[in-house]
Formats: sequence, structure tokens, C-alpha cells
Amino acid sequence: MTDFLCVNNLTQHFISGDQKLEAYSKVSFSLKKGEFLSITGPSGCGKTTLLRTIGGFLPPTSGTISIAGKDIKEPGTHCGMVFQTFDQLLPWKTILGNVMYPLIINHKFTNRVETQHHARKYLDMVGLDKFKDYYPYQLSGGMKQRVAIARALAMEPSLILMDEPFASVDADTRVMLQRELKSIWYKSGITVLFVTHSIIEAISLSTRFLVMGKSKPSIRLFEENSIHSEPDKLITPENTGYSEWWSRLSHLIREGNDSSAHE
Ligand SMILES: Nc1ncnc2c1ncn2[C@@H]1O[C@H](COP(=O)(O)OP(=O)(O)OP(=O)(O)O)[C@@H](O)[C@H]1O
Ligand SMILES: [Mg+2]
Repeated sequence: MTDFLCVNNLTQHFISGDQKLEAYSKVSFSLKKGEFLSITGPSGCGKTTLLRTIGGFLPPTSGTISIAGKDIKEPGTHCGMVFQTFDQLLPWKTILGNVMYPLIINHKFTNRVETQHHARKYLDMVGLDKFKDYYPYQLSGGMKQRVAIARALAMEPSLILMDEPFASVDADTRVMLQRELKSIWYKSGITVLFVTHSIIEAISLSTRFLVMGKSKPSIRLFEENSIHSEPDKLITPENTGYSEWWSRLSHLIREGNDSSAHE
């Protein structure tokens, strides 16, 4: 299978006053279609900035990104994004209205009935169709995250970028959302880039790990998750190889906090 996402030698600088800050440096990796990549690393190592660049929201200082052979220079419908915050929804629209909105503005369907039918299919997938007429303020944080996921998936992008999407929900809801996401990922064949501070979450969900650090170049590890399990199920500590990955990733992340550390 040929590579689907190619990130080639990306570097991102920010200039503030007379200071130049390197958010991340010389990031190169590629993914096959349908992979689930977790991105971990200490706070401030450039994970969010990298996602924004890959999404086309931020032009890189240098380097290139291509998706399915096409260079990415601006945001587009190929790529959906889900953030950590609960305030991603339009407060004046119902849940259904929120999922329908990007479908309407991107002319995904020719009529409203079809748009509504499609949006409800995705709300149903995240278990929220019966709340379709609710407004965001009537939902819990976890429910709002599920709507944000449904909204991103309903556009049927080939790539979804998720920045700590479950960081602010309680532990039980988090596991439930992880299960839902893994099952949707498996059924849809979508490629996922998933930023998380949780090593458990990274191991449970992903087919491949990317660990970033504060020293440059930014990538400390890019490797396939070698644990074998049913592809639509979460990987748990009972799976062989779990504790080895846990120790390895936590060590790399801790070491990555040192801006002078090298491999
Ligand atoms: N728009 C900006 N202007 C200037 N500096 C920025 C900007 N966005 C991010 N940075 C800087 O780039 C670096 C990386 O930030 P980023 O938010 O990508 O880190 P992160 O790995 O996502 O951290 P966290 O885990 O805390 O979310 C930080 O030093 C941050 O201050
Ligand atoms: Mg971040």
C-alpha cells in the first residue's frame, strides 16, 4: 500500500518580538491509509502546532505535507478536527443543526432531507440521535465531545485530527468514548492522528506511536504498536507486551521534557 499521509521535514518557528521560538523541528513521517497514530510528548513540545499545520490551518516555516498525493496548503474537507475544549459547538444551533452545518456550507448534499438523514446517521453512531433537538448547553461535556466527533466524521474526511479530545471527561466516559472511537475508526477505515497525554490511551487505541520531545529534531520515536489484539477492541494491560510499551513510552516522554536530551 502506498503512503497516504506524508509529512516531510516540517519545521515551525514563531517570531515574537525579537525572539524566535522553534515549536517543533524536522518532523518527517508517513502513514498508510487507515492507520491510527497517537502523538505524545511533554507539554510545549509542539503537538498541537503540528496538528494545526497538518490540517492546513498554519503554513509551516519549512517542509511539506501531502495527503493522498496532494500538497496541503490550506484547510479543506479532506480533514476533520476535534479539539479538547467543550465549546466547539455553535451554541445557538441544536445538536442536529451543529452536525448539519458543515454539510450545508460545503454543499455535501443537494437537499435538506438528505443532509438531515446523513447527520442523524452519525449522531446515532455516537449514541446521541435521541438528543438531536437539544442545545449544547443542555448536554454534559462528554456528550458535547461526541457531537463534535459526529460532526467531524459526518463530513467523511479521509483524515481526522484529534487534539486531546477526551482530556476533560471523567474516567468512565473516557473509556466509553475510546471504545466508540476505536469501533468507528475500524468500521470507517478513516486515518486518525490523536494527540494525548495519556500513555494508557495511546496504547489502547493506536496502531502506531509518535513521541515528540523538546530537543531538536522533535521526533523521539515513530514505531508500530506491536501488540496484537482484536482491531476494534481497546488494548488493555492483559495484552502481551503492554507493560513493555508503557515503560518505554513513559521513559521517552519523561526524557523528552529535557530540551538538551538526545536519543
Ligand atoms: N501562535 C503562537 N505564537 C507563538 N508561539 C506559539 C504559538 N502557538 C504555539 N506556540 C509555542 O509553540 C510551542 C509548542 O506549543 P504547542 O501548543 O504546540 O505544544 P503542545 O505540545 O501541544 O503542548 P500541550 O501538551 O501543553 O498542549 C510552545 O512553546 C508554545 O508557546
Ligand atoms: Mg497541545
